[in-house]
Amino acid sequence: MGRYKGILLAGGSGSRMYPLTQVMSKQLLAVYDKPMIYYPLATLMLFGIREILIISTPRDIPHMEQLFGNGERLGLQLSYKVQSHPNGIAEAFILGADFIGDDNVCLILGDNIFYMGDQLNDFSEIISPNAGAVICGYHVPDPEKYGVIEFAENDKVLSIEEKPKLPKSNFAVVGIYFYTSDVVQKAKKLSPSARGELEITDLNNEYLKENRMNVLRMRRGSAWIDAGTPDGLMDAAQFVQLIEKRQGLKISCIEEIALHRGFIDMEQFTNLIVSCKDGSDYKKYLEKIMHEKNFNV
Ligand code: TTP
Repeated sequence: MGRYKGILLAGGSGSRMYPLTQVMSKQLLAVYDKPMIYYPLATLMLFGIREILIISTPRDIPHMEQLFGNGERLGLQLSYKVQSHPNGIAEAFILGADFIGDDNVCLILGDNIFYMGDQLNDFSEIISPNAGAVICGYHVPDPEKYGVIEFAENDKVLSIEEKPKLPKSNFAVVGIYFYTSDVVQKAKKLSPSARGELEITDLNNEYLKENRMNVLRMRRGSAWIDAGTPDGLMDAAQFVQLIEKRQGLKISCIEEIALHRGFIDMEQFTNLIVSCKDGSDYKKYLEKIMHEKNFNV
């Protein structure tokens, strides 16, 4: 898949999570053993994306900067941008215009948790700089809560509808999207919807009109959890706990991914361990990775 920059969108109003979101955004809440924002960051890293813009609220950006700094320790280049008001997901491309420049960009939502395994390879086949847009569909029991994809027989996309009363399929659009750099121009032309937001679905429909929209269906074995509701947060925490306990391997451990993807070397990895709090299982896990041979499973 050609070169992509990443945008991690981690603001929003978090109304469905109130009062959890009274003093901090949901992306800073815990999903089992790490802050929620680690998961989408890890997903971008698994795609090999190292230049990432984190967008969040004026209140929360300082905390995110405290968590990750400029990203150098993880072999990343992180920058930050404030979204002064939750004007919609598609505003990310307007706020990120300078960051994107002439590059392709992958947007991930800060409350979306992916567990994809081998499916990561499917992406590299479909995503190319000439692809226009690539979105992902996940089979859900309650499509009316999401953007819904209607497929033609050849797997081409016929329509994408936002929260339809009568969904045309069970495939929900999930919170990871790949675009060519013209996404910025397209986002600038959008008008706010009835709920006052710049809608990602409107943007996707622009690519659909130009016949430049591709969809990857996520496989049964992949998990996608929208952790933006109290139930979603609980489901995500229980899912992560279950898998981590059964395998003794962590999901979305950003230090481990940085090492295994070659973003950092063993010396830098050792420095990361030193900066972990003594007594944490997290530190013990990183130490185990350092000592265990053939850990890269
Ligand atoms: P949503 O969960 O759709 O919106 P929200 O966070 O405002 O939550 P609620 O509906 O409960 O009020 O947003 C999806 C993701 O995108 C989430 O991580 C927050 C982020 N987001 C922004 O950062 N800015 C925005 O303007 C919007 C709409 C969402």
